[in-house]
Amino acid sequence: MKIYVDSADMAEIQNGLDLGLCDGVTTNPTLIARTGKSMTDAIKDICSVVDGDVHAEVLSLDADGIYKEGKELAKISDNIVVKIPMCHDGLIAVKRFTDEGIKTNVTLIFSTSQAILAAKAGASNVCPFVGRLDDISSAGTELIHEIVTVFDNYPEITSEIIVASIRNPLHVVEPALVGAHIFTIPGGVLKQMEKHPLTDIGIAAFLEDAKKFT
Ligand code: E4P
Repeated sequence: MKIYVDSADMAEIQNGLDLGLCDGVTTNPTLIARTGKSMTDAIKDICSVVDGDVHAEVLSLDADGIYKEGKELAKISDNIVVKIPMCHDGLIAVKRFTDEGIKTNVTLIFSTSQAILAAKAGASNVCPFVGRLDDISSAGTELIHEIVTVFDNYPEITSEIIVASIRNPLHVVEPALVGAHIFTIPGGVLKQMEKHPLTDIGIAAFLEDAKKFT
């Protein structure tokens, strides 16, 4: 199992590193915009502290533009994974990057058929969004189960599944039960995962009882 921090915020990323569970970082244009930095500066800052894969997303939607942008991003650091929105030209670009040994993440996956195409194009990662599916009353974690099942049926598929758009701890636990490979988790959900009310009650009771020590 790998855990990534789903953030471009350096404090959140550092928290993941301190906890020993930052195997990588995923960003997207929305997360970068929140930092107030340029894409290049934000990605450089993240790569200066993270050894694992750092996912940086292209904005172009045509194959040549995606390829050019992805090559520029890949120059920033050896651990860059070029993140490409799921689309026809995106798949063409994935094939080109794969042929050159550049890692890719096909993002905004909302169906198993999209995941199959991305995997066959050679994507290192496919990135289904569970929270956004739940938002439209479609079961996000069931999609993960389906993709895991299909990929397991075909051992030649080497793409790793990154569970994304995680909004609560169940979005981690349910896909973990079926063997998803990677979980990209926002800082707030990492904090929620630490907590259980019975743990807090237990700590308080032990501290109270410790006052009775002789
Ligand atoms: C990560 O790669 C995705 O861009 C991110 O998890 C999307 O999360 P959201 O649906 O909460 O914006």
